[in-house]
Amino acid sequence: MRQKHSDYMHWSKTQSRARFNLATSGVAPFPLRELPVDFQKLEINGDNSYGYAPLRAAIAVHHGVDPDCVVESAGTSMANHLAMAAIIEPGDEVLIEHPAYGPILDVAHYLEAKVKRFPRTEENGWAVVPGEIRRCVTPNTRLIVITNLHNPTSVLTPDSVLREVGEIARTVGALLLVDEVYLDAVYEGTPRTSFHLGPEFVVTSSLTKVYGISGLRCGWILARPDLAWKMQRLNDLYSATAVYPGELLSTVAFKHLDLLRERARPIVAADRKLLRDFLAQQPAVSAVWTHWGTTSFVRLSRSRGSKADIFLERLQSEFETSAVPGRFFEMPDHFRIGMGVNTEMFGEGLNRIGHALV
Ligand SMILES: Cc1ncc(COP(=O)(O)O)c(C=O)c1O
Repeated sequence: MRQKHSDYMHWSKTQSRARFNLATSGVAPFPLRELPVDFQKLEINGDNSYGYAPLRAAIAVHHGVDPDCVVESAGTSMANHLAMAAIIEPGDEVLIEHPAYGPILDVAHYLEAKVKRFPRTEENGWAVVPGEIRRCVTPNTRLIVITNLHNPTSVLTPDSVLREVGEIARTVGALLLVDEVYLDAVYEGTPRTSFHLGPEFVVTSSLTKVYGISGLRCGWILARPDLAWKMQRLNDLYSATAVYPGELLSTVAFKHLDLLRERARPIVAADRKLLRDFLAQQPAVSAVWTHWGTTSFVRLSRSRGSKADIFLERLQSEFETSAVPGRFFEMPDHFRIGMGVNTEMFGEGLNRIGHALV
């Protein structure tokens, strides 16, 4: 039987909430009332057969690519699914980072890929090491998958490394899928999309995590035009056409991206400072520190000897605080903390983690 579900998504939808919710991954919701929308111009139906042209153009301008390289999708979730489904045939080898965002693995399994993994280790700062990928690829490798920033750790992979991985992919005729949904959480010197690094790059992203408008489900894929068109045709079997009012609102959002991004930025910064101080004072936990991102991957010290699951259950039941169990990233000694929603809540959540660690 093929796997037809995602344990992480189910947990996230049904069990992640708490009074002090640190199980988030994106920033606080951006309120509609703060988006300069001309409601007279909002419509329900319109011309959007293969995407709404002004939205595809806005995405293309944002990334400096040709609109023919842009495929709209319902969030990065559908972007990843659609991209992988267009690229992979059953039995193809797909090389995915470890630890990985669960649904990426789930989709690859659902598509009946032969999933192989390459390690990103804590000892090495969770870095992508091209040598590890070179060791794993074979002539049957069709796709290599990386998240940048890395979920769960927020580690940034530099262009020099991505370029090297792209070259490895090219030598075996594979493509490289880079999920960049968190990349714009690098607020200073935001890197350009890796799509420009070579023809084997396929990129997915959305306005969900860093811009606070997850409800619009504004996502996209960047791919070379022939592949992009293949994805458009495949999407006729999935969502067929997008929600037109959503596309209109997303087009407005693109005109005000700075407004959206800057709104959450001070919250992320304040939470980051609290987390840094917390980690400095807490010998029972540690994390590879990054200067960006909305998530941090925290390790429970070995001396505690307990799996994060047990700790998090107690944290939720006794301290009304949640974080994402590391088991969803195949790392049971860790848990993921989210920043950028509400600093008061975040600070109190950390306090409570501190009490639970005593
Ligand atoms: C790496 C990664 N990709 C994709 C997604 C899904 O994003 P979206 O809400 O845009 O569908 C997430 C959500 O947590 C994620 O962490």
